[in-house]
Order: sequence, then C-alpha cells, then structure tokens
Amino acid sequence: MVETDNPLVLVARDGPVAVLRLNRPSKLNAISSALEGALQTAISRPEVSSSRCVVVTGGAKAFSAGADVSEMRAVDAESVFAYYAASGAAYEAVASLSQPSVSAIAGYCLGGGLELALATDFRVAEETATFGLPELDIGIVPSSGGTMRLARFVGAAKARELVLLRRRIPAGEAHACGLVTELVPEGESFARAMEMAAALAELPPLAVTLARRAIDAAAESSRATALFIEQLAYATLVQGGESQSRIGRFLRKD
Ligand code: COA
Repeated sequence: MVETDNPLVLVARDGPVAVLRLNRPSKLNAISSALEGALQTAISRPEVSSSRCVVVTGGAKAFSAGADVSEMRAVDAESVFAYYAASGAAYEAVASLSQPSVSAIAGYCLGGGLELALATDFRVAEETATFGLPELDIGIVPSSGGTMRLARFVGAAKARELVLLRRRIPAGEAHACGLVTELVPEGESFARAMEMAAALAELPPLAVTLARRAIDAAAESSRATALFIEQLAYATLVQGGESQSRIGRFLRKD
C-alpha cells in the first residue's frame, strides 16, 4: 500500500486494479470533509485513473461509521450547497468512475459509509458486517445518494426500513435483499473483492463502461430511450476491433 500525500486515503495498485483504503481507524473511518477531499484527490491519481477496476475498502472494525458528526454544525443552505459542489461531490466522483468498482466491507458500514459503498458497482461484505442509515436519529437524512441509490437497489419498502425504522441489518440480511453482492467469511472481503476486480479488469473497458452507463440510464429514462441507449452501445461496440477479435475467437473455438 503506497502512502499518498494525504494518509486519510491510501492508494495502492495491484496489476490492473487500484485500491483506495479509507484510513482513519481512530474514528472508525468517519467521513470528514478532509477525508472526502482525500478521496477525490486519490481518484485523480494516475495509479487510479489508469486502472481497469477500483476496490474501495476500510478497516477490520469499520468500512466507515458514516459522515463525521462532529462537522455537522448548523450552517446556512448556501454553505451546504457549496459543500456538495466541493468535498461532498466525492460520492458522485466514485459513482462516475469510468472503470467498475467494488467495495470490500468489514465491520460497520453506516450512514455516509453505506452511501459510499452504494456508489460502487458491487459490495463484497463479511458475515459480521453491519449496515444502516442512522441519520434520522440525529434529525437529518441520508443525502449523498443514500435514499436514491438504496431504493433503486433494494426497493422503497426495504429502504424505508433502514431509513425510517433505522434498522441496522446484518450482512446476511443485506445480501438477501440485494444490497450486498457477495457474502464472505470474516477477514475475507478484501481478497474476494480483489478477485472480483481482477475478473472485471479482464473485460473490454469500453464495453464495461457502456454496459454500466446503460444500466444507470435505464433507471432514469423512458423505456424507449433506455432501449435506444443499449442499441446504440451495441452498435458502437460491435464495429470495434476488440469485439470483432473476441467474436472471431469464439467462432474459431480458440
Ligand atoms: N462521526 C464522528 N466520529 C465518529 C463517528 C462519526 N460518524 N463514528 C464513530 N466516531 C468516533 C467516536 O466518536 C469515537 O471517537 P473518540 O474515541 O475520539 O471518542 C471513535 O470514533 C470510536 O467510536 P466509538 O463510538 O467509541 O466505538 P463503538 O465501538 O463504541 O461504537 C458505533 C461504534 C459505530 C456504533 C458508534 O461509533 C456510532 O454509533 N457511530 C455513529 C454512527 C452514525 O450515526 N453514523 C451516521 C452519521 S450521519
């Protein structure tokens, strides 16, 4: 693991896979604006931008216990929107990565920590991990894509359980409802996430990007537009050398 200029997020590279590790263990990786800034800086580093897949992870006790509550002082609406345009944009920066991403989750995955995990394509979680959105306990709401992405992934009924009933659900339940992609024994989330990332990294990058964008667009478009986007993606890819050589290999049974 290479320590970067900002030790709040460590960056490492393993072959085609970049690893971003939240590194604020004394505060259970509570996401301060400094940590969000470090995350954005990390994403723009060459080790990450040139990678084929990104793994986001935390520590053994916490992927992240959420947004840093100590920073939540009363501020005016203007400052809040300035925040979302600056360090608060880190979650969208993760969701907008051109390469696929996988979260490796151990321990607490709460509030903003869960929102960060939801911004990645896949979530590999240890059986002992815990998920929740406790924001309403302190009188606020998840606001970094939490309600929006969670409801898309698990449906509005389950999202209500986490947001309104503030249920902290074990990883097994999170897996059963589709929030967690894969459940693994304690201590194995990082290794499994790296395996998944290595497999994703072998796929043709443009096809992966277009597939991810088409899936995202489908949630926001009419049926006709969503179908047109996937047809456009197919038309773009099928003309390309990468796809033609893969099709040729399949037909020759190489
Ligand atoms: N923001 C700021 N600091 C946090 C934090 C957060 N979201 N979550 C944990 N921390 C800090 C604690 O204040 C403590 O700091 P200290 O040692 O300087 O006092 C340190 O991290 C360890 O946390 P602690 O509460 O002592 O650990 P625990 O094992 O007893 O409890 C949790 C773990 C996750 C249950 C508990 O820390 C918690 O409920 N955190 C807040 C979760 C939350 O509400 N997140 C959403 C915010 S919108």
